[in-house]
Amino acid sequence: VAEPDLLGRHLVISAGGTREPLDPVRFLGNRSSGKQGYALARTAVARGARVTLIAANTTMSDPAGADVVHVGTAVQLREAVLKAAADADAVVMAAAVADFRPAEYVTGKIKKKDGVEPAAVALVRNPDILAEISAERPRAGQVIVGFAAETDDVLANGREKLRRKGCDLLVVNEVGERKTFGSEENEAVVLAADGVDTPVPYGPKEALADVVWDLVVPRFE
Ligand code: PMT
Repeated sequence: VAEPDLLGRHLVISAGGTREPLDPVRFLGNRSSGKQGYALARTAVARGARVTLIAANTTMSDPAGADVVHVGTAVQLREAVLKAAADADAVVMAAAVADFRPAEYVTGKIKKKDGVEPAAVALVRNPDILAEISAERPRAGQVIVGFAAETDDVLANGREKLRRKGCDLLVVNEVGERKTFGSEENEAVVLAADGVDTPVPYGPKEALADVVWDLVVPRFE
């Protein structure tokens, strides 16, 4: 049985991947399953927290004991996270959020026309939810955690992202076979703005989630 060291805390966790619609049948998306975010939600509930899980396009059943808000796009995810964050002790952004969305939504299915080259898709920038919440801290003393999935220069990119986004902790996971997107397991380094890195060996996503909470708890004070 887990130590109830998150009792009385309200934690907001995002999970899954946003989808940015092009037309009624197509979207720009990513390979996030939501498993890492759901593992964070389950472990937080087990440690006594009140959990609001903002789930983007996930297919798993809602974790017991968490309030779950289902969303589709980055703009919807931002709205749900900001609303829940107003009284949150910590916000953990495990979701993979599209940085860009199609500039235009076409209301009828886009058709191909014989002899006509496909049009380029114009994109516009999505809001950066993690950067916004780190800058504004809707509640004083709030702990903000980001995630970063990287393919190369993993630690250097992670450190740069931690600085740029302004969060307290950044969980860097390298994209690869049997880890990160879609898998049951993960492996990561948790970077801290105050300088101490915590490597987390390959194992179940719950184990990484528990390390995140172990690092969040002392930062509440
Ligand atoms: O869902 P799973 O299949 O279990 O996979 C887990 C995961 C790989 C999705 C997860 O562990 C992970 O790494 N999530 C972050 C994915 C990512 O690449 O994020 P990013 O580098 O694009 O963004 C960095 C951080 O900023 C993230 O916390 C993200 O939520 C946040 N962000 C990004 C863009 C944006 N517009 N708004 C944001 O808030």
